[in-house]
Amino acid sequence: MQATGTVHSGYVISTIDPRLYGSFVEHLGRAVYTGIYEPEHPTANADGMRQDVIDLVRELDVPVVRYPGGNFVSAYNWEDGIGPREDRPVRLDLAWHSSESNQVGIHEFADWAKAAGAEMMLAVNLGSRGLDEARAFLEYVNHPGGSHWSDLRRKNGREEPWNVKLWCLGNEMDGPWQIGQKTAEEYGRIAFETAKAMRAFDKSIELVVCGSSSPKMPTYPAWEATVLDYTYDSVDYISLHMYFDNHAGDTANYLAQNARLDEYIETVAGVIAFTKAKKRSRKNVYISFDEWNVWYHSRDADRTVLEGNDGWPHAPALLEDIYNFEDVLQVGCILNTFIRRSDVVKVGCLAQLVNVIAPIMTVPGGPAWRQTTFYPYLFASRYGRGKALQLSLDCPGYGTDFVDQVPYLDVSAVETDTDGALTFFIVNRHQTEAIDLDMALEGFGDRRVILDKVIEGHGLRAVNGADGEPVAPQDGAGSGFSGGRLAASIAPLSYRMIRLGA
Ligand code: AHR
Repeated sequence: MQATGTVHSGYVISTIDPRLYGSFVEHLGRAVYTGIYEPEHPTANADGMRQDVIDLVRELDVPVVRYPGGNFVSAYNWEDGIGPREDRPVRLDLAWHSSESNQVGIHEFADWAKAAGAEMMLAVNLGSRGLDEARAFLEYVNHPGGSHWSDLRRKNGREEPWNVKLWCLGNEMDGPWQIGQKTAEEYGRIAFETAKAMRAFDKSIELVVCGSSSPKMPTYPAWEATVLDYTYDSVDYISLHMYFDNHAGDTANYLAQNARLDEYIETVAGVIAFTKAKKRSRKNVYISFDEWNVWYHSRDADRTVLEGNDGWPHAPALLEDIYNFEDVLQVGCILNTFIRRSDVVKVGCLAQLVNVIAPIMTVPGGPAWRQTTFYPYLFASRYGRGKALQLSLDCPGYGTDFVDQVPYLDVSAVETDTDGALTFFIVNRHQTEAIDLDMALEGFGDRRVILDKVIEGHGLRAVNGADGEPVAPQDGAGSGFSGGRLAASIAPLSYRMIRLGA
């Protein structure tokens, strides 16, 4: 089987916002407690944060981390997590039927984010609370001093403001599971008024308004139209979320699902364009895809805790999906979609980062380890920054019940700003056939392969664990550049990254 394509240096989709490769830490399950924070752990730093986890986050080069939720934020009092630890209250977290000790709050998380080399993206509670809490939290976090909340921060040990740029106006406010769920009208009004107050404090912050929590929501996409009608000129991004599953055990269907993601982005981009025209606005609003991942392996295991049959445990194991090789291919396809749509998707958050539907897992008191999906995320984050390039690709494909034709090869290309390298991210969805890729490069001059990595040859259900990480990249073989063309044989069911240096 053959696929031929062309990439031209002048055909640029967009400069990728590095925050496309962000992630997310929620007070949920073991993400925080025994995830990033475990004071008794042998690698714990002076703040009680696990250094082995920080090292893995640094390996991923995560640019931004969303915090503290997620569903959790919709009934969270951020003030519970400040001041002397011994005085902090234990609360019942209604979102995940757990106890929250509040031993980690904004100060501890900010220190952790700095150690991990990531910016913070903070969410305010527009579920059980509202505008007043949001403005107080913003003042606490971003005001230098001389006011009630900023002086309290200084008293609590942090002299300088954190100057957080990105703020989410609540989380998934369309969802019936959300504490304080709202109609689009109710939410649109509150989001607008909250944005107005937050901007009155600081015009330069970037605000993210909630879009649909999934394209399956009955209110989608009218929700986006109504919410943007209220907020278009007051916000910078609309947030989308999407999770993928293979409950049906149908690999072909599963690996085509980024076609749905494409449609979701395309539709919301259309609503944004419609609203911009309706408002006669010159301003652009972009998409913050601040929750995405595969999520289904752990659903049954979570029922006991979520239905309340375990009482109110502190940091129970929840959403601990163990990812397999098939999920590597899926995550590779999703990231390719974001690169190809980096004209409208500016921020992305892999949900989540540690222990909870995460690329990094920990054993309490023991090692931290890399899930299979760590690697496509690592490669995109490290080598996918720069200019996303438009590709033409002529490749055989197949149909499913939701898409007429999806090519066997899913490909994206990025020209890195720093070293000018041209990187191809490739997934072969074909289950039995290798595909010979022949890609013409125009306007790139002479090139050579400087890095070729592949994940292939595993059973679809192969997983990593604390005792070994068999699903990991190896050196790819046989790729070459000559006569202005890249040639490579892409193995069936494989993830491949090929970099061409000048
Ligand atoms: O990431 C897990 C949960 O999924 C988040 O808390 C919520 O926003 C979404 O429903």
